Amino acid sequence: MTLDSTLAKALVAQVNAELAASHSYLAMAFFFDAQDLPGFASFFRAQSAEESQHATRLSDFLLRREAEVALTAIPAPETTFASPSAAIRAALTMEQGVTQSIHALYGLAREKSDYAAQTQLMWFIDEQVEEEDSFRTLLTQTEAAETDRWNLITLDKEIATQAASAASA
Ligand SMILES: [Fe+2]
Ligand SMILES: [Fe+2]
Repeated sequence: MTLDSTLAKALVAQVNAELAASHSYLAMAFFFDAQDLPGFASFFRAQSAEESQHATRLSDFLLRREAEVALTAIPAPETTFASPSAAIRAALTMEQGVTQSIHALYGLAREKSDYAAQTQLMWFIDEQVEEEDSFRTLLTQTEAAETDRWNLITLDKEIATQAASAASA
């Protein structure tokens, strides 16, 4: 089944949005590195890698459906934030935006009766629930910790331990 051109265009835009998210998370990792918070930095590096995998997952699907995937320039991400929680809030806002666009894509795939695209997007819908949840938790924890530098360092160590056990799982 040929991919509807409107749907194809919207999916290609999402590939580019995932790459932009990957870029943003890398900038956030650098921000946390500069703050001497290596646990947060590795968390954001892992997020960046995940977003690039999302782009690949979607572009592979598009290529299998014989759509052309035109990559666009990635805008320069924000590199400075007022505080650790401000960076995480920006990440959460970005994820909420992604959730909205995934939902819109799913609606479009339904409208076009493209069942394969709906299945692909279903994976992303579930993924967004997890992503929003993990950023919301991290935001709450960071807001509570950041008023005291030592608490923030303790949280950073905890995040580093979690990241290490997730990587070995
Ligand atoms: Fe993503
Ligand atoms: Fe994400």
